[in-house]
Amino acid sequence: MNTRMSALIRPLLLLAMTIAVTAPGGAAQSNDSQVSRGQYLTNLLGCGRCHTEGYLIGSSATGPYFAGSMIGMAYTAYSMDEQNPGVVFAGNLTGDVETGLGNWSVEDIITAMTEGIARSSHERLLIMPWVNYNALTRSDLEAIAHYLKNLAPVVRAIPQPVIEGEPSLHPYVRYGVFEFTPHTRPEDL
Ligand code: HEC
Repeated sequence: MNTRMSALIRPLLLLAMTIAVTAPGGAAQSNDSQVSRGQYLTNLLGCGRCHTEGYLIGSSATGPYFAGSMIGMAYTAYSMDEQNPGVVFAGNLTGDVETGLGNWSVEDIITAMTEGIARSSHERLLIMPWVNYNALTRSDLEAIAHYLKNLAPVVRAIPQPVIEGEPSLHPYVRYGVFEFTPHTRPEDL
């Protein structure tokens, strides 16, 4: 290639590479070691425990791995007379465009993990332990995001969150939300 050609082509190549890396949604560039580290980390961090059908109520998956849970998690404090708690559902993290993360960029996934803010929403994610994931290193966060972007798409629509007071059409579990009972010492009675 002569110098003039390469002077012309190199910026174009660089531009194409930048677009490939940053294009929202599209297949993110990743390498095998990133993807296998992402798999290792998601196992360790238990993402699949909430984001896979079955694990919330038992010890085995009853739906495709990482394709979300139709069983929700109540996030409001439990009280005996409470009828309709607020409920959230751990979503489909596979690459399906409509029902999963197919349109999410690596950066969108990292923001959800570190700030608890889902793509095109300003609400903080509930129950999802993003406060802890905020401590992950940048390269670990990227590895997880690349691993998720490499999951085969599964078409599986997960229910929308239910606000407190509304009836949930789907079953739910109580996940670490307990009624607060002030402790009374015998000497206070
Ligand atoms: C304790 C259960 C739990 C664990 C563990 C968990 N999540 Fe979530 N996650 C949720 C719930 C519930 C939501 C939806 C919250 C809401 O709607 O407010 C959610 C939402 C998300 C979202 C936003 C898109 C969506 O599906 O709503 C992403 C992305 C996500 N989680 C990724 C992860 C990753 C990656 C991990 C592991 C590093 C992980 N989660 C671990 C419960 C969990």
